[in-house]
Amino acid sequence: MKGLLPNLSYKLSWMLTSKRLARLGSGGFDRNDQRKRSYNLDSSRQQQPLIDLSLGCTDLLPPPDAIKAMGNHLEEPRSAAYCLHAATGSFREAAAAWCEHRLGVAVDPEREVLLLVGSQEGTAHFPMAVLDPGDSALILDPSYPSHRGGLELADASIQTLPLEPHQHWEPDFKTITTAQWDQLRLLMLGFPHNPTACVGQQNWLDEAMTHAQRHDLVVAHDNPYLDLALEGEAPALLRSPHWRERGIEFFSLSKGWCLGGFRLAFAIGAEPLITALRQLKSVVDFNQCQALQQGAVVALSQHADWPARLLPIYRERRDRTRAALSDLGWSVPLPSMALYLWMPLPSWARAKGWGDEQMAAELLEHCGIVVTPGSGFGEAGYNWLRLALVRPVAELEAAVGRLSPWWQKQC
Ligand SMILES: Cc1ncc(COP(=O)(O)O)c(C=O)c1O
Repeated sequence: MKGLLPNLSYKLSWMLTSKRLARLGSGGFDRNDQRKRSYNLDSSRQQQPLIDLSLGCTDLLPPPDAIKAMGNHLEEPRSAAYCLHAATGSFREAAAAWCEHRLGVAVDPEREVLLLVGSQEGTAHFPMAVLDPGDSALILDPSYPSHRGGLELADASIQTLPLEPHQHWEPDFKTITTAQWDQLRLLMLGFPHNPTACVGQQNWLDEAMTHAQRHDLVVAHDNPYLDLALEGEAPALLRSPHWRERGIEFFSLSKGWCLGGFRLAFAIGAEPLITALRQLKSVVDFNQCQALQQGAVVALSQHADWPARLLPIYRERRDRTRAALSDLGWSVPLPSMALYLWMPLPSWARAKGWGDEQMAAELLEHCGIVVTPGSGFGEAGYNWLRLALVRPVAELEAAVGRLSPWWQKQC
């Protein structure tokens, strides 16, 4: 009887919840979280504390002025009040000024800018604002989980465009037929790209926009890593033609300003798309509180160069970790953006029939290292792992050092 209970409760929860929820699945990040918890609860593991390289959640610090501004505004009564759209004006003005300074594009803070509770929130809600159930939408495979998740929530028909290493992760729009283009209502892109760590190119977005204009669809571009290119220059949808007719771009303070936990981001785009997302969000949230917004204003207006300070740190982490992995015999392609290594499963692991989930589980079990299984980003990630460069060099090298004796036994 005891053994039957977990099954029974699983069955009951399945009966109580939507098919949509089943399609969403448990989420790669959640599965990793559970694995980490059981590892930490196991007292026999205490000699080898986890090295967690699974989330793009940096150890680097935000501008102290921004945090100070949050603290200063926290005691104001308006920070405790619900914050409707009109009260986000000073944040939107700062975002518009940043946009003009950073991208050379003047935007209207009233009609073309919207505050978000993280870019993840914005990209997850956006499809519901522009799609009806069954509408076709295209995402990259692999892609950030909120891209697929948002389309699932909108009951969209999801098409995928695989990104291939031999094509340097360039989306091959030529593989999409005219009939497919005609059916599509939304194209969801994101460069610099998580998880492949490829910066991407402006002409890729320009090409997407040309197709979108011809076939009358919306292009959404998730761009939280705009300032974190280590090679080349990151593209921006706001520099592509036609964005004012059919484009929306998502920016974030999480990565460049190290403010991930504060959930501060914004969208800039075509007025009808901004209005639609704003309308949808009006039934979901009342925006971030004033104190957090004022911290973001300080970050955007007084520390626009903060992300540039992070680049040498991430470059050193990338190069030293890759070199240590290479000494071990694990060859990892050179990522052109900060924060991640996108690592192919070693050939010996594939020969054993391991996929990404098993390899990640073995790394946790035997080395106490947490990385993200690639398939959490889509089918194309099955033979890949993502390692986030979110710890100091010494700890990253220690992680590879831990790997070494285990690795030698495997191959
Ligand atoms: C492509 C992409 N979009 C969105 C996010 C989440 O950003 P935010 O913290 O602004 O929600 C991430 C975080 O890793 C990401 O990689």
